Amino acid sequence: MKSRIPLATPDADLVRGMAQLSMSQKIPNGTVVHLDHAYFKKQIFESEYIDADYVQKVLLSYRSNANDWKKFAYFDEYRYTRNLVDNGNDKYNLMLLCWSEGQGSVIHDHSDAHCFMKMLSGSLHETRYEWPDSTTDLNQMKAIDENQLKTNDVAYINDSIGLHRVENRSDSWKAVSLHLYSPPYSKCQVFDERTGLRNQAKVTFYSKYGNKKTYLYKQFKQLHEFVKP
Ligand SMILES: [Fe+2]
Repeated sequence: MKSRIPLATPDADLVRGMAQLSMSQKIPNGTVVHLDHAYFKKQIFESEYIDADYVQKVLLSYRSNANDWKKFAYFDEYRYTRNLVDNGNDKYNLMLLCWSEGQGSVIHDHSDAHCFMKMLSGSLHETRYEWPDSTTDLNQMKAIDENQLKTNDVAYINDSIGLHRVENRSDSWKAVSLHLYSPPYSKCQVFDERTGLRNQAKVTFYSKYGNKKTYLYKQFKQLHEFVKP
């Protein structure tokens, strides 16, 4: 996959070392976070430019182990959830998305950010679409590609590639995926498949840093302070 401006040629030794480190589980207190701290912050995201091929190789080298990430995994009965793992010093957002049976996203863009997706558990179906011709033409959106992602697979998309929708089509299995967005964003565009019409949507978190209750309490407290006389 083409990156914007490569930072460096992928370092095979580092990728291999990462794989061994992850698979042998020598990293204390959770590979996801420490993979992030040790490599993403210091090695990959210290420059403003990102080597998308290299990030994909590092993500591919990690073999999913639920013990590493289960503390971030919150499911909801009614919609898929976005759970923040790390904000990467504002260079990126690393998050766990938890998909109950039959849940899926709407068609969306990625606000000119890189989007990396690593399957941690289960399987997800990705449908890619062309950008609609215009904001006034009411046409069915055109699907250009479909991918079935299984555990440990990695996918990459940005706005120059197109738009996508992600779904857990299983009626008996949940799915968990790790997403890395760089730079982080708080709004994106969502699209109606039948017409191509778009709206802006705010993206939110269901939990932060593995803690749902504290995060929701803080939100409630801020709201309370905002509305009190
Ligand atoms: Fe996406």
